[in-house]
Amino acid sequence: MASFEDNDIDVPDPSLMNVIEQDSLKWIFVGGKGGVGKTTTSCCLSIQLAKKREKVLIVSTDPAHNLSDAFCQKFGRDPMLVDGFENLYVMEIDANADMDKIQGEMSAATGDDEQSVLQSLMGDLTSSIPGIDEAMSFSELMKQVQTMDYDTVVFDTAPTGHTLRLLSFPTIMEKALGKIMDLKDKFGGMLSSMSGLMGGGAGPNGESPTDMMLGKLEETREIINKVNTMFQDPTVTTFVCVCIPEFLSIFETERLVQELSKFGIDSHNVVVNQVLFPEKDADELAEWFEEEKGKLSKEAAEICSKMMARKKMQDKYIGQCFDLYGDDFHIILQPLLDHEVRGVEKLTEFSETLVNPVDLEVD
Ligand SMILES: Nc1ncnc2c1ncn2[C@@H]1O[C@H](COP(=O)(O)OP(=O)(O)O)[C@@H](O)[C@H]1O
Ligand SMILES: [Mg+2]
Repeated sequence: MASFEDNDIDVPDPSLMNVIEQDSLKWIFVGGKGGVGKTTTSCCLSIQLAKKREKVLIVSTDPAHNLSDAFCQKFGRDPMLVDGFENLYVMEIDANADMDKIQGEMSAATGDDEQSVLQSLMGDLTSSIPGIDEAMSFSELMKQVQTMDYDTVVFDTAPTGHTLRLLSFPTIMEKALGKIMDLKDKFGGMLSSMSGLMGGGAGPNGESPTDMMLGKLEETREIINKVNTMFQDPTVTTFVCVCIPEFLSIFETERLVQELSKFGIDSHNVVVNQVLFPEKDADELAEWFEEEKGKLSKEAAEICSKMMARKKMQDKYIGQCFDLYGDDFHIILQPLLDHEVRGVEKLTEFSETLVNPVDLEVD
């Protein structure tokens, strides 16, 4: 394979084995554009991790949950064991439901009038500060997950735009806190005299709704800042980029890699999924086709010709991928299968090529 052979000794090996073998890794993100194979890769990587780690959790932060689809098993907010495993768990989180829960918990500690103040504060925050719901829900998730004894947590993230939002949560929290502080400065007196009239403050310690909200946001900020420091430590966190060999996907991957490096988050693996005949070279295939096409029926020749065009295009983008990342990243080519990758059996089978890649035909 002229453009992406792996016979250069210094080039990282084309396998995700490096991630499996790095025992210190606690948080592994899997991200990329929609439909490229993030969920499939998260599941496959986790299946391989589960062979080496005591307890592995996959978390989906994608609102379009598909871990349930991939494993053909219904998961929810609480970690659930995957059928057929003893140490592989899945949870799917929902930012909207989490916001309702947070609000519910705060409201439970208050009277009716404070509840409506809290409700309107929360509504105000979610509408004026985009992403605050995700930030708060993520902080709840991390608070919960950190108390559990998983060796490794794999995040099946939402498509690229959302993934990067995760990295901006600290800024979002600062904005939210600023907003509530402003409100407190403006209406603080009024709010506390109101709760005074109602016979004391709102919270269990007699604080006003704004103070409760401030308390909650400060707690969230603290968690998010701690978590972000952790995510910026390459010994515990890495980001696996998934793409397909097409222009837009490679373009988005480059954006993602740049952004991750800007935020100081380690990434050194790119999975190129849905590759047609990863072990074959487009030029060689073209030669074969030239010789054989006379013997094929018209329909067969047409189908082959379409396939060849596709293969040629894929090779171009795989070549670009190696040019961009080949020196520093492990690039793993995953074959396009003839069927969907659903259910434990198929996922397990597919997971093998992540660690034992198909042999590239080197001349
Ligand atoms: N290499 C592949 N060959 C065939 N089908 C695939 C492959 N990778 C993923 N799929 C299928 O493509 C669909 C989208 O994959 P998925 O992992 O859910 O993508 P994402 O999470 O990035 O949106 C799923 O139905 C999956 O089974
Ligand atoms: Mg998905």
